Amino acid sequence: MRNAQISGIGHYLPERSVTNQDLEKLMDTSDEWIRERTGIEARRWIKKGDTVTSMALAASKMALERAGKTPQDIDCIILSCVISDYVNPGGACFLQSALGLPGIPAIDIRNGCSGFLYALSVGEQFIKTGTYETVLVVGSEVLSPMLDKTTRGRDTAVIFADGAGAVVLTGIEDSQKGILATHLHADGRFADKLGAFSKQMPQTMELYQDRPTDVPIDIIMEGRYVFKHAVSKFPAVIKEALNTSGYTIDDVDLVIPHQANLRISQAVAQRLGLPEEKLVSNITQYGNTTSASIPIAMSEAWEDGRLKEGSLVCLASFGSGFTWASSLIRF
Ligand code: UT7
Repeated sequence: MRNAQISGIGHYLPERSVTNQDLEKLMDTSDEWIRERTGIEARRWIKKGDTVTSMALAASKMALERAGKTPQDIDCIILSCVISDYVNPGGACFLQSALGLPGIPAIDIRNGCSGFLYALSVGEQFIKTGTYETVLVVGSEVLSPMLDKTTRGRDTAVIFADGAGAVVLTGIEDSQKGILATHLHADGRFADKLGAFSKQMPQTMELYQDRPTDVPIDIIMEGRYVFKHAVSKFPAVIKEALNTSGYTIDDVDLVIPHQANLRISQAVAQRLGLPEEKLVSNITQYGNTTSASIPIAMSEAWEDGRLKEGSLVCLASFGSGFTWASSLIRF
């Protein structure tokens, strides 16, 4: 049986680190409040010149190099982002052009923080069916220009951040390796509880890159509501992955959740009986990079040796829509 496997992982983080102390100067907040409620100490925000496309390109190049591939090996691109550099077309076409690959399909996925796992599932199907040999799956997110950096927007401004992560998917003739189980869910009844809602449609990100306040897009989040749903859906979808593939939480080497909030990740680990050393977390330094957070965390876990050949890894997400998803992978 042909499975899809991740054969290279890469990421890109903007250089500019914005600390909680930096935010204290912009709004009525405190380092103590942010650390206690979210675990975040600093986040990366873009500088002029960083875009969804430029960050996706950098992450993709790293993933390709680590997979021993060149851009010309890619048969299909799938990109997840909350908002692309333009309202339309989406980010996948811009990445395709930046990689110099005219003609191959470029697919956009827009499922908020679950976008990367939704994108991965699409790539998985193309590989399993033999439609494509090599699929590039990317999460690239620029959220910071849209954040209201005044006290009015402090609940979201302290959380969201920018970054990109990418993986190269290829096929493997081994049913015990690669992506073993994928589960996707959505409940649109809660679509208005979390998301980016436009006040007026800008044509390009350029129009609001430098506007710290009165941005034309509102990031809306009913924090407590999101929190409550997240701490139940994360463990449920991880258990679903384990149950359908005959594993228990003790078999898992790493759980890499979407980096929503450190308290959410810790509550999920506790509910699952997962020891802290098996939980991958980097939100302290990078904030919540929506659909880029899972591939960034995977890439770092691979770099520091925690994710290696043979590891059983469960990826899980919860985000706007509401959407939630998991992917169980044997590397
Ligand atoms: O990727 C998925 C998307 N998002 C999430 O996963 C986030 C899920 N939710 C959360 O993480 C939490 O709900 C938050 C961290 C957003 C908020 O924590 P909370 O413990 O739920 O606080 P709260 O919203 O109930 O607000 C408590 C107080 C309020 O003041 P009053 O009404 O008690 O006077 C807020 O106005 O904290 C205030 N507050 C802040 N204070 C200082 C809200 N944001 C801030 C802030 N700094 N940044």
